[in-house]
Amino acid sequence: MSEPFNPGLKGKTVIVTGGAAGIGKSMSEGFYQRGANVVIADLKDAVSAAKSIDPTEQKVRGVEVDVRSEASIQAAIAQTLSCFERIDVLVNNAGIATGIPPRPFHEIDPEEWKNVYDVNVIGIFRSCRAVVPFMEKNGGGRIINIASAAAFKGVPYLLHYVSSKGAVLAMTKSLAKELGEKNILVNAVAPGFTLSESVLSNEGQMTRSKGISLQGRAIAREQYPADVVGAVLFFASNDAAFITGQTLVVDGGTYLH
Ligand SMILES: NC(=O)c1ccc[n+]([C@@H]2O[C@H](COP(=O)([O-])OP(=O)(O)OC[C@H]3O[C@@H](n4cnc5c(N)ncnc54)[C@H](O)[C@@H]3O)[C@@H](O)[C@H]2O)c1
Repeated sequence: MSEPFNPGLKGKTVIVTGGAAGIGKSMSEGFYQRGANVVIADLKDAVSAAKSIDPTEQKVRGVEVDVRSEASIQAAIAQTLSCFERIDVLVNNAGIATGIPPRPFHEIDPEEWKNVYDVNVIGIFRSCRAVVPFMEKNGGGRIINIASAAAFKGVPYLLHYVSSKGAVLAMTKSLAKELGEKNILVNAVAPGFTLSESVLSNEGQMTRSKGISLQGRAIAREQYPADVVGAVLFFASNDAAFITGQTLVVDGGTYLH
């Protein structure tokens, strides 16, 4: 028999990459509120973000990490283990998104393409590779990848970004097949256009995407980081114990499948 319904994540240790801002910070707060130990692993502002959620620093810790570097990820994992002794959940949220200037595909510099993939795709691969052995030691774990509804809908002028998120969906399925026997479940959440701080402060992106994103949305309002949190908590919970390789689109009912 699987464990009974447990709405909380008390005692679990969760790493949220890119957790210092936006969607990642909302998810970190959500995990904290449900009793988990949370490591905010971010390129910048990790410690201040952690303190803003848990001023005691007992349950939420900030760790500087660059998911483009294997050594940096290893150091972040060592810090996680020294604080909380185990790793149960990895949320691969760090991403290059908002700052990417839209361009016709033939004007995208291959170097820019590589930078986007280095964070959005290989960053996830590196983080999973580093964390899985510790999940195995615990007899299992959860990996939740943050993709994007853009990979389902197709969005012009961001071919590198959109295809990187398509790669996240494909990785989620294949890794789920590979890690099922280790009881490590791998799922993805694909948000729609979400008004995180970085999006709100990007005038160009707001002008381009805000109106369009509301068109065709069944729930006709803006999407905020907090809207994404429930799906991630679900995949981390015992309620999702027999679900793997799946993607939940959280976009207010725009892309339906
Ligand atoms: N906001 C949206 O409309 C939207 C829609 C769909 C998917 N997403 C995805 O959700 C995730 C979060 O989006 P957001 O809007 O909150 O973005 P954001 O820019 O506000 O936050 C991203 C975080 O990732 C961190 N980060 C970037 N590069 C990193 C690296 N190399 N190593 C470690 N951390 C790094 C940043 O410092 C930042 O704190 C991203 O993966 C994004 O692609 C966002």
